[in-house]
Amino acid sequence: MLEHVRTLAASGFGRHVRFVEEYDPSLPPVFANRDQLIQVFLNLVKNAAEAIDGEADGEIQLTTAFRPGVRLTVPGTTSRVSLPLEFCVRDNGKGVPDDLLPHLFDPFVTTKPTGTGLGLALVAKIIGDHGGIVECDSQPRRTTFRVLLPMYRGKRASAEDN
Ligand SMILES: Nc1ncnc2c1ncn2[C@@H]1O[C@H](COP(=O)(O)OP(=O)(O)OP(=O)(O)O)[C@@H](O)[C@H]1O
Ligand SMILES: [Mg+2]
Repeated sequence: MLEHVRTLAASGFGRHVRFVEEYDPSLPPVFANRDQLIQVFLNLVKNAAEAIDGEADGEIQLTTAFRPGVRLTVPGTTSRVSLPLEFCVRDNGKGVPDDLLPHLFDPFVTTKPTGTGLGLALVAKIIGDHGGIVECDSQPRRTTFRVLLPMYRGKRASAEDN
């Protein structure tokens, strides 16, 4: 799926971008709507490409990792959930301005003259619908959007799990 996104990007808005891909071969299957995930990662890669626009050494890294040990507290709940499937889109652009970070995933937040500010709001909605979370860690020359998704356990196991 990420290779498909990279191919789409590289033949369009990301023509001049260097892509680095590192995919974890042990990543279990993801239970998700493929088209929606493509939309998610196209939005993240498009933002990354726009962040490095004009930089000679602009690079976008796409990585996946399986982290079965990690348990997180989901905002608004007290329970801890396991979100072991990690997908990262990282760029070496100028970074997200500090004052934007708390509102990054809100609709209509944009710093671009022709941006709608809907890209990341859509990303957050789709990932939330899939039981996951998306977060951003940004410093100049190292901005990472991290998507964490639950593992598919099948109907019976998830009922036993609550
Ligand atoms: N990788 C990134 N590096 C730096 N800033 C970013 C990055 N991704 C998002 N942003 C900031 O977050 C804002 C909101 O992003 P979002 O995708 O929601 O809207 P947009 O890109 O401005 O518009 P659209 O997605 O409609 O083209 C951007 O305008 C930009 O300021
Ligand atoms: Mg965008």
